[in-house]
Amino acid sequence: MTETIQHRYDDLFRLDGKVAVVTGGAGILGRGYCRALAERGATVIVADINQAACDTLAAQLAAETGAAVRGLAVDLSSEASIVAWAKAILDTHGRVDVLMNNAAAKADGFFAPLENYSLQTWNEVMAVNVNALFLAVRELGPGMAERGSGSIINVSSIYGVVAPDQRIYEGSWYADLGGAINTPMIYSATKGAVVAMTRYLATYWGPRGVRCNCLTPGGVASGQNEEFDQRYSARVPMGRMAKADEMIGALLYLASDASSYVNGQNLIVDGGWTAW
Ligand SMILES: NC(=O)c1ccc[n+]([C@@H]2O[C@H](COP(=O)([O-])OP(=O)(O)OC[C@H]3O[C@@H](n4cnc5c(N)ncnc54)[C@H](O)[C@@H]3O)[C@@H](O)[C@H]2O)c1
Repeated sequence: MTETIQHRYDDLFRLDGKVAVVTGGAGILGRGYCRALAERGATVIVADINQAACDTLAAQLAAETGAAVRGLAVDLSSEASIVAWAKAILDTHGRVDVLMNNAAAKADGFFAPLENYSLQTWNEVMAVNVNALFLAVRELGPGMAERGSGSIINVSSIYGVVAPDQRIYEGSWYADLGGAINTPMIYSATKGAVVAMTRYLATYWGPRGVRCNCLTPGGVASGQNEEFDQRYSARVPMGRMAKADEMIGALLYLASDASSYVNGQNLIVDGGWTAW
């Protein structure tokens, strides 16, 4: 008896036969999302700006998980590219069951101070973080609604929910970007918009069986310097930054039938940052 029940609960998180698309799929968090979805049995489309990077990751994940994983590049700052990309997905796979809008842009000048922030940088970030989400759901959402099922997962940030504590960036350094970091206003603006768009979509397609939720990560340790890590961690009730794989449970929950009645919510995985 216990075994039967356990078996049924395990199945709640399975994604066999589902087609899952992850934008920003080759990024720091995206690659883990793609792996987890493949491990749960989904056919996964790794979508990112560089076709070679998508292909390399797709081949690696296919070999390691045995799932069908495909790389399909898209330039999320271009409407034409998104339209062609969505068509290619639907032409090949016929459907999308899980759409994870995870990509975010760090355009040139991203970390400039507000006083000198260029409108061009602002617009470039807006294009990927907000406009592309609209375009991706415009192109891939209707098929979900027609079939009467689907899960759209939009990635926000704690800075779309609360303001950054500007003090934590003093002395920061991020090797990957070769400089100091901060959270520019466009990041908060776009991530707040992601939460709003999520709620909108939840009521728009909810009646047709399509769920839409947000996954909101807190700061993930990925090469920030010790000074930043300490200042950030001191603000977290759990006293540390997140590890990349700590977002996976939330993703699998939102992607699968485990969350079949969860719609329009923001699942915040931040060690308690937004709790005080
Ligand atoms: N890492 C964190 O600490 C953290 C915290 C909170 C929220 N987030 C959010 O999680 C998501 C993933 O973050 P990450 O840390 O993996 O960042 P990342 O920069 O490693 O990944 C973002 C991906 O988006 C892709 N991308 C950017 N512009 C694109 C375009 N025009 N076309 C196609 N792809 C494009 C990039 O190539 C990159 O692979 C983002 O939405 C980010 O805002 C991250």
